Amino acid sequence: MKRILVTGGLGFIGSHTVVELQNEGFEVVIIDDLSNTTISVLDSITEITGTKPDFHQIDLRVKNDLKNFFDNNKVDGIIHFAAFKAVGESMSKPLDYYENNLGSLVYLLQEMRDRKLDNFIFSSSCTVYGQADELPITENAPVKTAESVYGNTKQIGEEIIRDASTAHNINTIALRYFNPVGAHPTVKIGELPLGVPANLIPFVTQTAAGIRKELSVFGDDYPTEDGTAVRDYIHVVDLAKAHIAALKRLIGNSNKETFEYFNVGTGRGTSVLEIINTFEKVNNVKLNYKIVGRREGDITAAFADTTIANKELNWKTEKSLEEALESAWKWQQKQS
Ligand code: WQD
Repeated sequence: MKRILVTGGLGFIGSHTVVELQNEGFEVVIIDDLSNTTISVLDSITEITGTKPDFHQIDLRVKNDLKNFFDNNKVDGIIHFAAFKAVGESMSKPLDYYENNLGSLVYLLQEMRDRKLDNFIFSSSCTVYGQADELPITENAPVKTAESVYGNTKQIGEEIIRDASTAHNINTIALRYFNPVGAHPTVKIGELPLGVPANLIPFVTQTAAGIRKELSVFGDDYPTEDGTAVRDYIHVVDLAKAHIAALKRLIGNSNKETFEYFNVGTGRGTSVLEIINTFEKVNNVKLNYKIVGRREGDITAAFADTTIANKELNWKTEKSLEEALESAWKWQQKQS
């Protein structure tokens, strides 16, 4: 049985990926510093799959702790989620973001180099494209100057991985996520934003739950059908399964380069107003919202061309936006 390290494995996407790894018969060991999640997620994963993953609370910036981990744990692959990911916060704390997101990445890759470990999957983001010149966005779209420090850590992260994979023959894949949404069908794991949510869907569900007074729609003067910005909202379970597909590609030596990257989305664009209308319809709730000015740094539209990911990863999304918005609402209703 292959043993896979999942860093950030108690986070939103990480926990859903751990569930899918166990469903596929992989043994999982999680490293998480619990800075943006709670240990209860470990029990929730265990409830879903019946198997408790190994867990180590480690801050990946502490080289010695990382070294001790690898002295005592052999792994056949690494899926690296652990990172700070708040776009707004990254602008006010750039050095924390560079230290955490890039420092821990370098330390992980140094361990892989020194111990001849292989198969590394990186959590990247469509944010590397900025506002793409053409839609849908293919992997050939140029990487543009990042609009945020967070986005820059993903761009620089990919460059670090590309150079390390070439120099040290480590097989790697970066998955460029579009917008992850929804919760597990068991409603035992989901998105746990700490504080005021920056992302749309948690703000929608908290507004519907009465935790937030009303949702602000950031701009309705974009050059889109209804004037609100368009994104590619992918169900988190579909996104998790893309990691399994990527891992199998590396373990099966089917990759064509030592560094590959794939756009992971549904291929469909949805506007903010369409999200609101769909959410209200599937959940039979009324959302209190108002149109306000644009949020600085936001792009007009982004959605994926999934041709290459579908073909090379032998993967495609199976869940609908409706399922994502229904599961997000059920998960919100479970929060105390
Ligand atoms: C989506 C749309 C907002 C909140 C970011 C990162 C990306 C990834 C996902 C981490 C936009 C609008 C939002 C609100 C709104 N992050 N909106 N009112 O900005 O596309 O992507 O989060 O992995 O890397 O860049 O996602 O959910 O913040 O916004 O109108 O209260 O919803 O303007 O059009 P975004 P988002």
